[in-house]
Amino acid sequence: MNANTNSASPSAPAGCVSDQKSDPLPDPVDWEARYRAGDTPWDGGAAAPALTEFLSRHPIRGEVLVPGSGAGHDVRALAAQGADVLGLDLSQTAVALAEGFPRTGGERYVQGDLFDLPSPWHGRFDWVVEHTCFCAIPPSRRADYFAAISLALKPGGHYLGIFYMNPAAPQGPPHGTTREEISSLFDPRFTLLEEWTPRENLEGREGRELCQLRRKVDRVLG
Ligand SMILES: C[S@@+](CC[C@H](N)C(=O)[O-])C[C@H]1O[C@@H](n2cnc3c(N)ncnc32)[C@H](O)[C@@H]1O
Repeated sequence: MNANTNSASPSAPAGCVSDQKSDPLPDPVDWEARYRAGDTPWDGGAAAPALTEFLSRHPIRGEVLVPGSGAGHDVRALAAQGADVLGLDLSQTAVALAEGFPRTGGERYVQGDLFDLPSPWHGRFDWVVEHTCFCAIPPSRRADYFAAISLALKPGGHYLGIFYMNPAAPQGPPHGTTREEISSLFDPRFTLLEEWTPRENLEGREGRELCQLRRKVDRVLG
């Protein structure tokens, strides 16, 4: 991977995520405007503690996609321990913000839409690491989110999800979820390997997060 900032191609070929959209409503959040205004209360200034803890017992290597990477704290934590990481974000200002931090390893940041992944990224990634992208997108697009993640991962690739289950504010984003909803999206095409409640959280998220480690199955039988 080179270290340049790119824009994901909006013209992904047949079979890509954009073909799976059923005329979605536009995201009501103008993420670029939020970053330009510095209105980013979700940015805890550090990698997700749950990710740091996971990495301390289980290195993540290979090509890693971090969707909705924001200022890139999780990206840099992953790059520092040896992964080849691509942080993807809709907001060009977020990408520029992330690029302003000292590099830690093989990371790069790209402005683009998770729901319109360019074809070179299809089946490319060994890992997808999720932290506060799933809760940020409109809940009506969660099936599209799953399709995008599935498209990006190699068969046998891994998915680490740090889910924000029940945010305090009633009206999202962040939008909460349930174990049942996650299961309905990911089972049986992603096998659940491990699930835990992280002991450490960013401020305000104590007891509100759930982690899942899943593996994309090569082929669903039957
Ligand atoms: C709540 S913020 C979290 C940012 C970062 N993960 C963090 O924890 O600081 C959600 C991020 O997802 C990005 N985002 C929202 N929809 C996206 C999409 N369809 N494709 C890529 N990024 C998206 C936003 O621009 C924003 O940076």
